Amino acid sequence: MPSIFDKFKIKNIELRNRIVLPPLVRFSILGTDGYVTEELVNWYEEVLRGGIGFVIVEATAVSEEGKLRENQLGIWNDSFISGLKKIADKCHEYKVPVLIQLHHAGFKEDIKNVDKSILDEILEKFKIAFHRAKKAGFDGIEIHGAHTYLISQLNSRLWNTREDIYGGDFERRMYFSKKLIEETRELFDDNFILGYRMGGNEPELSDGIEIAKYLEKLGVDLLHISSGVPDPKYTRKQKVDVPNDFPLDWVIYMGTEIRKHVSIPIIGVRNIRKEKEASWLIENDLLDLVAVGRAMIARPNWVNIARKEYNTRNGIKNS
Ligand SMILES: Cc1cc2nc3c(=O)[nH]c(=O)nc-3n(C[C@H](O)[C@H](O)[C@H](O)COP(=O)(O)O)c2cc1C
Repeated sequence: MPSIFDKFKIKNIELRNRIVLPPLVRFSILGTDGYVTEELVNWYEEVLRGGIGFVIVEATAVSEEGKLRENQLGIWNDSFISGLKKIADKCHEYKVPVLIQLHHAGFKEDIKNVDKSILDEILEKFKIAFHRAKKAGFDGIEIHGAHTYLISQLNSRLWNTREDIYGGDFERRMYFSKKLIEETRELFDDNFILGYRMGGNEPELSDGIEIAKYLEKLGVDLLHISSGVPDPKYTRKQKVDVPNDFPLDWVIYMGTEIRKHVSIPIIGVRNIRKEKEASWLIENDLLDLVAVGRAMIARPNWVNIARKEYNTRNGIKNS
């Protein structure tokens, strides 16, 4: 039976266990200039010391205009590389692979009305940011394609009713992602992972499945299933239909369902607090990797605590 403490391999890159730190913006320990601070490196180190298997660095803005909040990490010019490298190096000091999530917050106005030249420009900025991330020493990139930010806005059939190359039918809605992936393909050798965080509900799970299959075909190595642009017909708490006997969160459920349709590894996330919950997902072969966010902020040594709980549950003596 697989365990959350089993190793896992993506391309040439080995993870020591199946627990992932998902991207978590840490606004309070960043300045308005977007540079990495000592406190930020210390936060990542706390989680590394706590036994994490894989780190995904928080949403990092590919353009200054695309920031979500004032105090967000940036990668919109070369001067950010050396600071970001400190996080990558710290992870490698602990032999933990690390991706960086690249992000553009999108538009408050309707994505339908954004000028095409602006989207062309952002696409270029993403591409340059990929190169910077590789220079900074990361083991790969996670494209932020979820949570109603730019790429989720484009992927959404509810919001993206554009009539140019960036919208309309499914392939055109995915055009931005497709171009980005195709035009940076040379970066992704066996030691550089292309991850993509997507909305499992874009807006329905069936759309999420279609997107996941398409991304796999484009060459994405790893999918991280989160939420997308919701259909207003659903409740605040749950935005797709989940069988009554599924014991965990609806977002986790989407990850387990999407995994049935692709062969690349899937990270599931949301509301995992206890070792027992993460173990249930891995032991039953429902996910490849499990991300733990808020519980990791509360207890950066979550993985080491989980190890003790796991041992106790399985009658193994704690060393
Ligand atoms: C403080 C905070 C910051 C977050 N920052 C990001 C982010 O930078 N990028 C992203 O894709 N999701 C972000 N999220 C969402 C988390 O990655 C995760 O999907 C969510 O918290 C659910 O997982 P959890 O219940 O284990 O926390 C953030 C969530 C929180 C609470």
